[in-house]
Amino acid sequence: MHFQWYPGHMTKARRMMQENIKLIDLIIELVDARIPLSSRNPDIDELGKGKARLILLNKADLAEDRINDEWIAYFKDKGYSAVKVNSKKGGGIKSIQSVIQEACREKTERDRKRGILNRPVRAMVVGIPNVGKSTFINALAGKACAKTGNKPGVTKGKQWIRLNKSVELLDTPGILWPKFEDQEVGLKLAFIGSIKDEILQTEELAAELVKFMGNSYPGVLEEKYAIPEPGDAYECLAEIAKSRHCLVRGSELDTEKAAAILLDDFRGGRLGRITLETPEK
Ligand code: G4P
Repeated sequence: MHFQWYPGHMTKARRMMQENIKLIDLIIELVDARIPLSSRNPDIDELGKGKARLILLNKADLAEDRINDEWIAYFKDKGYSAVKVNSKKGGGIKSIQSVIQEACREKTERDRKRGILNRPVRAMVVGIPNVGKSTFINALAGKACAKTGNKPGVTKGKQWIRLNKSVELLDTPGILWPKFEDQEVGLKLAFIGSIKDEILQTEELAAELVKFMGNSYPGVLEEKYAIPEPGDAYECLAEIAKSRHCLVRGSELDTEKAAAILLDDFRGGRLGRITLETPEK
């Protein structure tokens, strides 16, 4: 799923977020473990002021685990609760309920002092498109989830998923735009497939990925595609085309196809677990 954001979409997304935020105690923000900063919305801290915050490093299965742990430490250091998860396979999901309680401890304590007991924590999932919001909500709610708020006699408004007696989740996630104005960020978002490939031509984008891989994960492409060490990025795409028998008109190397294969392999985790940005950068 690709999104094209225009100023009108952004204004609408912001307005919806501002409305929903009034109803909740906790913002569960999903980021992509391969690009934890580049996949954050630039305005989320402003929008989420005064609310408890939990950052989930989603798609942790696709990123280097040692760096995942560094990111968790980084976010905790900044005052957020943070955990790594794999929403697709359910990894880390079991611990979320207790992490939610922990993230809202101050609020629960405030309630208790005011004599409000056992009021469920209300949470909302937010993040940029494709970061895994729906997958996460499904994994967390499971099949047996009960929706609340649509009882007879109650005006149909927001739908809440009752996770247990102490947590309710807004059933529609907040979709927010990424920081695409920054070119380097845009490139990383394009690598993971979050914004349209047309930002750059497929070959250009793949060539940038080859350069990144050469610098940060040397030898990985050579091993994966059984190719010799290439002189430059475009030569690498030609070698991949040769190795994968990507030909046009029977004999010419189809580097466009090789580029698509490379991007697809990267996005699907078939080049191994790769992180595109580390905390110190
Ligand atoms: P969104 O609501 O934020 O837009 O994202 P959504 O849940 O639709 O997830 C986007 C894609 O990311 C889906 O793949 C989903 O399976 C995948 N995904 C979500 N969480 C994880 C995770 O923790 N690890 C991995 N590896 N993938 C994850 P898709 O290609 O659209 O569909 P499919 O391949 O699952 O059929």
